[in-house]
Amino acid sequence: MKRILLIDDEENILSSLKGVLEDEGGFLVDTAKSGVLGLAKIKKFEPDVVLLDIWMPGDDGIKVLEKIKKLAPAVKVIMMSGHGTVETAVKAIKLGAFDFLEKPLHFDKVLLLLQHAIDLEALESENLALKEELREEEVLIGESPAMQRLKKLLHVTAPSNGWVLVQGENGTGKELVARALHWGSPRSGSRFVAVNCAAIPDELIESELFGHERGSFTGAHEKKIGKFELAHGGTLFLDEVGDMGGKVQAKILRALQECSIQRVGGDIPIEVDIRVIAASNKDLKKEIREGNFREDLFYRLNVIPIQVPSLRDRREDIPALVEHFVKRYSRGKKRRVGAATLKILQHYPWPGNVRELKNWVERACILSQDDVIEGFEYQVLEADDFSNVDEKSLRGARATFEKQFILKMLSENGGNISKTAQTIGVERSHLHKKMRSYGIREVPPGENQ
Ligand SMILES: Nc1ncnc2c1ncn2[C@@H]1O[C@H](COP(=O)(O)OP(=O)(O)OP(=O)(O)O)[C@@H](O)[C@H]1O
Ligand SMILES: [Mg+2]
Repeated sequence: MKRILLIDDEENILSSLKGVLEDEGGFLVDTAKSGVLGLAKIKKFEPDVVLLDIWMPGDDGIKVLEKIKKLAPAVKVIMMSGHGTVETAVKAIKLGAFDFLEKPLHFDKVLLLLQHAIDLEALESENLALKEELREEEVLIGESPAMQRLKKLLHVTAPSNGWVLVQGENGTGKELVARALHWGSPRSGSRFVAVNCAAIPDELIESELFGHERGSFTGAHEKKIGKFELAHGGTLFLDEVGDMGGKVQAKILRALQECSIQRVGGDIPIEVDIRVIAASNKDLKKEIREGNFREDLFYRLNVIPIQVPSLRDRREDIPALVEHFVKRYSRGKKRRVGAATLKILQHYPWPGNVRELKNWVERACILSQDDVIEGFEYQVLEADDFSNVDEKSLRGARATFEKQFILKMLSENGGNISKTAQTIGVERSHLHKKMRSYGIREVPPGENQ
């Protein structure tokens, strides 16, 4: 039941309004004869909407409104007055009043306005909850030295207006970093608009980025606002910049240089105020050398370079990430990944970085019915991960392969060393020695539980 507080010095208004709102509106209503008494009830009664008279002895309605907004900013306040001037109404709205009612009151109008205020309040709180949920999904997990350095850099970079180029392997969290930069900036009240530069076909690029006027080409039935314009006042995230074609590069460079765009079929330039964050998983310097990426565009984008570390270089973060994703995919159920499996996950090279880990956890959470998830580790090791070997020497490559192979076989045999040794045809002691030399820890019995 929604709560309404009435503040007015006229007894008969209080009683008649209370009657109507309770009987016809189904509200819970409380009343106060003065601003002071009303303010005391704000905390105790916790109203959703306040109907507040402007002309009262003592503090007038405008003063009370100011105090209510400090005390409980989310409460909707509707002002009432018989001698309302336009100026007072404007002042009240500026101070955060929801609307203005003229006396004598028409009850239908009062009920309608109350419903609007309540609907808006519901929308606002839903919006807030959704935003919070989104932001929760967007926290950067990890306290390894590499992540701490990254977070420090984000902390100083975010509030500035500086353009940022985020580089890193696939799935390392480049987009997450870009979003964190947006949330931490004075632009966070405006939009974060992401453009996947690699995914837009050449012939649609201008209309996607800059929009078009109605009828500017066949098929343009409606006016369309482009990504640049949408991001006005906010952040434009140019993703996969390393994959755009030459034509797109030229178009984007021009818009970025001029900070102004023109809709397709339009003839006025539109100024846009944007902060650009670009991302790429390619080595752009190398792309420049090979003639695939414009140098001038690179220098325009690369004001502040941020490198996101691969998961291999911060294995300490794996347990925290696993816990984070298990929580996400277990929907309130208390679950965890068992210690033996976690060990194996910590040794795996993760060529697809955090995204691959996240997918593994999701899969394991679906496939395993247990509270302690164990035994799904082989699924990550099935892929042809050995292709990712970065070694130049045969010896290094062989060692990397051997380690991966042992891990895979160990996980297939549930961490049992004797069984694994038997399967791969070596002595138990030999396998032990190999494991020690590769830093593969034996899983003590019991850790599997
Ligand atoms: N540090 C982190 N903490 C929590 N989640 C993360 C972290 N890093 C990445 N993720 C999650 O991993 C997934 C991949 O991240 P994201 O899309 O930001 O990576 P990317 O570098 O942009 O990948 P790609 O190169 O494929 O575009 C997302 O679901 C993201 O939420
Ligand atoms: Mg990405």
